[in-house]
Amino acid sequence: MCGIFGIVTSEERPLGPVLVEAGKRLSYRGYDSVGCATIRADGTVDLRKDVGKVDDVARRLQFHEMRGTRGIVQLRWATFGAPSRANAQPHIDSDGDLVGAHNGNVVNNVELREAFIAEGMTVRSTNDGETCVHAVERYVDRGHSMLDAIRRAYGDLEGDYSFVIGRVGENRLYAFKKGSGLVAGLTDGIAVVSSDLPSILPLTRRIVRVEDGEIVVLEPGRIELRRVEDGARVEREIETVAETMEEAQKEGYPHFMLKEIHEQPRRARELLHLYDASPHVATLAERMGRARNLYLVGCGTSYHACLLGATYIARLAGRPAIPVLAPQFVPQYVPALGPEDVGLFVSQSGETKDVLLALDAAVARGLVPLGLLNVIGSTLMYRSRAYLPLACGYEISVPATKTFLNQALAFLYLALRMGGHPTAELSRVPELLEETIAAADRQIVELVDGLAGRDDLYCLGYGLTYPIALEGALKMKEVTYAHCEGMLSTEFKHGPLSAVTEGYPVVFVCGPEDVARVVSGVNEVTCRGGRAIAVAEEDPRLRANAHDLIVLPEAGPLLNPLLAVVPLQLLAYRMSVARGIDPDFPRNLSKTLTVD
Ligand code: M6R
Repeated sequence: MCGIFGIVTSEERPLGPVLVEAGKRLSYRGYDSVGCATIRADGTVDLRKDVGKVDDVARRLQFHEMRGTRGIVQLRWATFGAPSRANAQPHIDSDGDLVGAHNGNVVNNVELREAFIAEGMTVRSTNDGETCVHAVERYVDRGHSMLDAIRRAYGDLEGDYSFVIGRVGENRLYAFKKGSGLVAGLTDGIAVVSSDLPSILPLTRRIVRVEDGEIVVLEPGRIELRRVEDGARVEREIETVAETMEEAQKEGYPHFMLKEIHEQPRRARELLHLYDASPHVATLAERMGRARNLYLVGCGTSYHACLLGATYIARLAGRPAIPVLAPQFVPQYVPALGPEDVGLFVSQSGETKDVLLALDAAVARGLVPLGLLNVIGSTLMYRSRAYLPLACGYEISVPATKTFLNQALAFLYLALRMGGHPTAELSRVPELLEETIAAADRQIVELVDGLAGRDDLYCLGYGLTYPIALEGALKMKEVTYAHCEGMLSTEFKHGPLSAVTEGYPVVFVCGPEDVARVVSGVNEVTCRGGRAIAVAEEDPRLRANAHDLIVLPEAGPLLNPLLAVVPLQLLAYRMSVARGIDPDFPRNLSKTLTVD
């Protein structure tokens, strides 16, 4: 996702090198374009931006020459609208005396953009960062001060974002946020602001965290917070942070995996905002709906999302979808493909060679390739006829967590749309996830003591929770090095039950519709001395029969799988740490598998 950084100094100086350094520190988020703007003491704006990596664009456009008393750098990670020079940020207003950049998503971008064009403003891109600039311009043109114009614009801009803006003739920058992160910093004669603490740390450790509903006004060596509601000043102590750069990127969590698990409610919220406003959802739903055969193709975690997706699509859209592991797609289905068939290729990285080979083989037979991917600018994005992003930001930890959650949510969203159902109920998901994380982590910390020494366990599910059981088992294997097999719960009695001895752990992931069926599986384990751990909504039958019940919030059968995966992620994480393993970088594994 995008990142922003802004700086205000007391006198004109070379700002290019500072902006490039800050840009590099934002780059871990993943991006496709970069841009810098400076406002010089003589009132001119120097704006340089393009598609490409920071070093590359900085060299081509000579960022090092840029001077000024204010500077902004932005890294854009395109969600909608092609990566292009015009869509790259920062943006200027109609007459070029306001310059600003945002990160995140403004979900009413299309409506606002049309309104600004109708009002006679010069709109140069389709990017929502430009919309933020015009939203302020609208009120400045009506005679409001910058602060008042921003207060009004804040009410017009819907979504999750942070935004920084400057005006020629005032030696200040203004910034504010909704949902997204924003932190300001202070040192001698300088004030800075950024979406990310790490980009500020080389300059200062004296910071102020900006909250929703606040505007931060930055002047040389001075920061002031104002309330959006009435413009009143907000008093907040300056904090001195002790984090190192790496710790700051982890936002205080000991590992990226834990940070990424905790990020899930926010990422889910961002995905829903994005899809609610996206015309591409309809395109994918329509193409998938009218396919002769619909294939859902992926590897590892992404394949598990495909399995869940197929179950959602059958249930909600009443049509079959065939989930398949990418390398097996080639021998099993490619020879029978035709142009009436559609494949949705699912990959966090968008670079997995198994997936790209399957896509190429299928396209050669005329299949229409669609993509569901996290990394914008990836090969899969370019090879897909149409795609949807996962909007998770950069996933650093090798085990996929937040990207699985958003893949699952994207499938549920698509299945609802394919079946002509409303998607409004999904707005409950972020809060339900927050509740799940808070409750499950407490229960799992207690459970881990007894499980951390086990080298062998099973994770079972049925129906909508079958893919979740497979995913939980994969997480466990990946970060604990224990053998953990995922399986359909009803299959357990057909062979693996022989593994059960005193204390042998079996995790049952159980949806609210499947309790009766799962309880008999639980008893088959417990009557042989095994330890049954259920992950489910509160239920007296499970409470009475299983040894442990990790309780999920009541959410109903469709949302239950989205919540059920969270305790399994946390269990894998806590077991990994208890076994002295670094869950972010498990041995032998790589985040992106570009090999056969
Ligand atoms: O980038 P992709 O989604 O295509 O990656 C596919 C698998 O390599 C990946 O999901 C892998 O299984 C994860 N590391 C599991 O956590």
